[in-house]
Amino acid sequence: MPLVSMRQLLDEAAKGAYGVGAFNVNNMEQIQAIMEAARETKSPAIVQASRGARSYSQDRFLYHLMLAATELYPEIPTVLHLDHGNSVETCKSAIGMGFTSVMMDGSLMPDGKTPSTFEYNVKATREVVETAHSKGITVEGEIGCLGGIEDGHGAGLDGLSHLTDPEQAVEFVRETGVDALAIAIGTSHGAYKFTSKPTGETLKMDRLLEIHRRLPNTHLVMHGSSSVPKDLQDIINQYGGKLKPTWGVPIEEIQLGIKNGVRKINVDTDNRLAITGAIRKVFWEKPEEFDPRSYLKPARDAMKKVVAQRMTQFGQAGHAGDYAPISLEAMAKRYQQHLTA
Ligand code: G3H
Ligand code: 13P
Ligand code: ZN
Repeated sequence: MPLVSMRQLLDEAAKGAYGVGAFNVNNMEQIQAIMEAARETKSPAIVQASRGARSYSQDRFLYHLMLAATELYPEIPTVLHLDHGNSVETCKSAIGMGFTSVMMDGSLMPDGKTPSTFEYNVKATREVVETAHSKGITVEGEIGCLGGIEDGHGAGLDGLSHLTDPEQAVEFVRETGVDALAIAIGTSHGAYKFTSKPTGETLKMDRLLEIHRRLPNTHLVMHGSSSVPKDLQDIINQYGGKLKPTWGVPIEEIQLGIKNGVRKINVDTDNRLAITGAIRKVFWEKPEEFDPRSYLKPARDAMKKVVAQRMTQFGQAGHAGDYAPISLEAMAKRYQQHLTA
């Protein structure tokens, strides 16, 4: 089956009350790991590429690898999603290439660092929605800025000012017509999210519940959702790595989110940790090896294991065959007729 719209996957996830992991890729082995995990667990798959991934891979390579994935895994509904598009142009170029979903991250200015205004975010996101929906492509927007609470992000006030304001979230969805909404509740990208197991003070699940209460029909997205498991940290450090102690987002908090409107969960760091640990182990134990396959294969297997585990924990396992994919043309017609709910 061809690449499918993310909207359809998330609508189905809402019907089935489960979440769908969105896993970042930069190369063939990572795509293979996700597709194998999806086959093993019978899961729909969201494969996502950041701007960095598109540049690293010369995105045409990535796109054609994804076409290979759809040929080799025809039973898996598979989405190719742009992660953190920084501008309208970036989103349009992904749409032009064949991505079936894009994130317009207008919470930040195009430099990807400076917090933007609400007006800028609405304008840029709405423009992407207009272009994308006319082609049946899904759009994820973001309101509020990702970032930890304890690291002083948003300092000067109470350290919470960068989080999503529920009232603004309602206005943003109404003004833009996005299909999915990324919210900021105290998570951040990367391995160093929390200096101890997060509590209600550092991971604001109450904020998520409030947003879901006000937007019960909007698919919510949790970014920065790696769990940063200790066993993966330990493997890296056992074989010469130097990770400092750190905590990620506990799976049970993600599962609470899934019970409250979270339909897409972004995970990159856990897979990076698994890959790096596996490669370090081979280098440490077999320093005589130099065939890249001797470490890329264990690396791919390690990522597949993490992805399959997350697919099971998020509840998407077993749902790959639940529905027939809708074509992008049919999705475009649905948007035209405003049948977006
Ligand atoms: O947005 C965060 C993802 O982990 C992608 O990271 O920008 O280094 O490719 P990246
Ligand atoms: P992690 O760094 O927690 O894996 O988050 C990934 C992410 O949010 C990608 O957009
Ligand atoms: Zn993210």
